[in-house]
Amino acid sequence: MPDLRAAAKRTKGEVQYRTFAMPEEAKHLGTGKKYHIYTYGCQANVRDSETLSGLLEQMDYTKAETGEEADLVIFNTCAVRRNAEEHVFGNLGELKSWRRSHPDAIICVCGCMVQEEAVVNELLRSYPQVDLIFGTHNIYRLPYLLMDYDKTKEKTVEVFSGQGDVMENMPVRRSDPYKGYVNIMYGCNKFCTYCIVPYTRGKERSRHQEDIIREVEELKEQGCHEVILLGQNVNAYGKDLGMEDGFTQLLEAVAETGIERIRFYTSHPRDYSFSTILAMKKYPNIMKALHLPVQSGSTAVLKRMNRGYTAESYLKLVADMKREIPDITFTTDLIVGFPDETDEDFQKTLDLVDACAFDGAFTFIYSPREGTPAARFEDHIPMHVKKERLSLLNEKIAYYGHLNNQKYMDQTLRVLCEGPSKKNPAVYTGYSEENKLVNFTGPAGLDGKIVDVRITKTLSFSLNGMAL
Ligand code: SAH
Ligand code: SF4
Ligand code: F3S
Repeated sequence: MPDLRAAAKRTKGEVQYRTFAMPEEAKHLGTGKKYHIYTYGCQANVRDSETLSGLLEQMDYTKAETGEEADLVIFNTCAVRRNAEEHVFGNLGELKSWRRSHPDAIICVCGCMVQEEAVVNELLRSYPQVDLIFGTHNIYRLPYLLMDYDKTKEKTVEVFSGQGDVMENMPVRRSDPYKGYVNIMYGCNKFCTYCIVPYTRGKERSRHQEDIIREVEELKEQGCHEVILLGQNVNAYGKDLGMEDGFTQLLEAVAETGIERIRFYTSHPRDYSFSTILAMKKYPNIMKALHLPVQSGSTAVLKRMNRGYTAESYLKLVADMKREIPDITFTTDLIVGFPDETDEDFQKTLDLVDACAFDGAFTFIYSPREGTPAARFEDHIPMHVKKERLSLLNEKIAYYGHLNNQKYMDQTLRVLCEGPSKKNPAVYTGYSEENKLVNFTGPAGLDGKIVDVRITKTLSFSLNGMAL
């Protein structure tokens, strides 16, 4: 069973680096069977689902197009806000009768939600259709859990609440052939007061640089054009390994592989080092698009959030970057309605958005998470005020989105073509170097190519164009 308190403990050392090997007995467990994974939450979960798929395919399972056709269904969940959790409970509820009419099917729930004891209790109490529950730290145990289940047919919960290990050599089935996610570190030590992630993902622990570079080289050989380096706070990369300025060193080593495009998520303003800005400037294959969550424009709120920087220091960082790299684009994350956020605090957030003129932002209403410090803070702000703030903020974000996009009119952008757009199969879709979503027309056969696209129309959150 999970234990959030135990999960918050951080001790020196103790991280184990291990190598995965698939047990022989598991290699045919999935013969003739299909799996389906529902993935919620951030890119860490997307990458974990790719590992889960890799494990299952090594066990001879094949992928089912839909959950209904599958013999094994996995929900890889997110706990970051209450609505993310409600979504999962809703979707799981819908499978109750399906599970009854498919007595041999297996339903698993994993990911961040099941690191919370309250969630596991709820699943045990009200969701009898769930067969297996495992956590973020024991994904590599899936083959063993399935072997045991095959013998016993017993409902199993196995969630570790420690700091986590680093497991190398895990199989992977990538969801995108042109864009590859590469974990550079796991966990988070920041403990922002509103956030559940340090409890669900364990301590900050970096992969060894040579393992990361090997993964990037493999992706490059497979024809992948872009790598996205992942960590909750990438700027802290290597600190646990005793490296000075580890992230910049790593970034430069990745750039030296010659892979065409490099992005990284997520940066933290507190740890950002000037050398990283210089590396971005130096290497043309490091994309000049930065996601730099600010959360609030009020220094008083930032303090209560335990973010470790002020509005002024954030603005200075942005100004430094714009000076060094004038064509850089910025996106951010913002929370409104943090406990007792005043009108003045919120106004400061609006002012900061004006000062930074972000290209885009993910905006959220604060959601209390049981077990985090902010969940115990007093809050006198009514929900309707929080909703009004969110819509005012979203209006401003859309305004700057459009304003920034206008400068690309009639310009040529380099777009990595992902294939036909889901909304309109007659046009292609992809992202430019600036991380702008571009929908464009062009001749057949552009999938997976980096294409020059002339921009013909600008919108708030995307651009339209034609391939040259
Ligand atoms: N590690 C990243 C992102 C983590 S979660 C970072 O620090 O930036 C992604 C975003 O979800 C956060 O940036 C924050 O804006 C939002 N978030 C996290 N916890 C939240 C909560 N309890 N309520 C509302 N939004 C939250
Ligand atoms: Fe959560 Fe803060 Fe860590 Fe980001 S840095 S994952 S917001 S605790
Ligand atoms: Fe959600 Fe876990 Fe990511 S809580 S945002 S899936 S780290």
